[in-house]
Amino acid sequence: MVFTIYNLVGAVWLILPAYAANGLAPLVGLRGGLHHIDGGRTLGRSRLLGDGKSWEGLVFGILVAVCIALVEMMAFPYLPWELSDIPLNIAAMSPLLGLALGLGAMLGDVTGSFIKRRLDRPRGSPVPLLDQLDFLLGAFLFAALVVPVRLEWFLLMVVLTPVLHLTANLIGFRLGIKKTPW
Ligand code: CTP
Ligand code: MG
Repeated sequence: MVFTIYNLVGAVWLILPAYAANGLAPLVGLRGGLHHIDGGRTLGRSRLLGDGKSWEGLVFGILVAVCIALVEMMAFPYLPWELSDIPLNIAAMSPLLGLALGLGAMLGDVTGSFIKRRLDRPRGSPVPLLDQLDFLLGAFLFAALVVPVRLEWFLLMVVLTPVLHLTANLIGFRLGIKKTPW
């Protein structure tokens, strides 16, 4: 069974640093003067990665992931795990795992942009599923180098992430923060 509360707790516990990295990286875009990872280079007709991928965003995302992992690690002894009626399978959170999750998320995101540019989609244009799942795949791959990762956690997050993304954007649209509901 993939959709159990036990798998959900384990999956969210593991992926939280990667979610934070991916969600907060746009904050660096608020100020100008960013150093683009591709240095403005093109491959064929399109940019290698585009103006949406900066070194500042990459480093900031990784730092955010390490910080969230540290918070999770320190909070671990105080959380009510005993409420679960079966022993929970929880990844041992550590700054190293945070680093892997952050690095994986940000490299997955860069890979997503690389693919988008090869498909001639301009920076910021929506490519459903690729936009939501690139960072997730990278984060899970890198995390698996540090701790045992359950396939159920990955499958659960692959289904939940686009749903959460769409819901958040719909709320943003209704509130007038976003121009489109997707
Ligand atoms: N960002 C950044 N550096 C990164 C990742 C993200 O500076 N490595 C910032 C950019 O300001 C970017 C924003 O976060 O515009 C949102 O990220 P994302 O949605 O991944 O980029 P897009 O602008 O949509 O570009 P793309 O089409 O390449 O996904
Ligand atoms: Mg985008």
